[in-house]
Amino acid sequence: MSPIASLVTCTQPIWPFFSRSLIGRRGRARKRRPSRPPLVPPKDVPTRTPFTPEGRARLLHAIAHIEFNAINLALDAVWRFAGMPAAFYRDWLRVAGEEAHHFTLLREHLQGLGFDYGDFDAHDGLWLMTQRTAHDIVARMALVPRTLEARGLDATPPLQAKFARAGDARAVEILSIILRDEVGHVAIGNHWYRWLCERDGLDPLALYPELAARYDAPRLRPPFNREARRAAGFSDEEIDRLG
Ligand SMILES: [Fe+2]
Ligand SMILES: [Fe+2]
Repeated sequence: MSPIASLVTCTQPIWPFFSRSLIGRRGRARKRRPSRPPLVPPKDVPTRTPFTPEGRARLLHAIAHIEFNAINLALDAVWRFAGMPAAFYRDWLRVAGEEAHHFTLLREHLQGLGFDYGDFDAHDGLWLMTQRTAHDIVARMALVPRTLEARGLDATPPLQAKFARAGDARAVEILSIILRDEVGHVAIGNHWYRWLCERDGLDPLALYPELAARYDAPRLRPPFNREARRAAGFSDEEIDRLG
């Protein structure tokens, strides 16, 4: 795309998007919510097996829903937290773009199976933590990218093995792209968490369990994807303290 075309194409939708969804609502974290999928408590989402066509679609739908929420949470980090260095906003805009790419890849694959995003129930764990940490940037960095997104680093290889056993090579491929990019997102979370701790004179190692308890973060369980977590900037000591 030419520089002129890309400027025009990218700029036009910005104002309608922000005016309908975000501006003027700083009190609470909001996102553009489609009428579907219906949201239910996590315990009411049935377990999904990749070994039936519908089960595989349900599993892909659940991952697509996480990616959809991730677009909103990256954009929320951009507009909510004022006074950060320019690199913070660049980082989170990049994350939002990559999350939109992940969502699109999964949605297209789901459509290829005869389903679409919105066809199944979903739950909102990722977004709830985004709302809970709306007034605390340190907790947001600690608990969204470097806890919930980092959990995706651990979950992805076993998920890929499941899809491979079910004969879905495309899903395995898409998850490889997601895993590669998510290492970058968790690294961004680690970078800004440490940056904020240093700015505010906080000890990042000691603070993390305090924040996890205060905001009721989900407990992380091993096995951890040490290689991906190291690549995302976790020290061995941090990984050892997780579970
Ligand atoms: Fe993603
Ligand atoms: Fe991400």
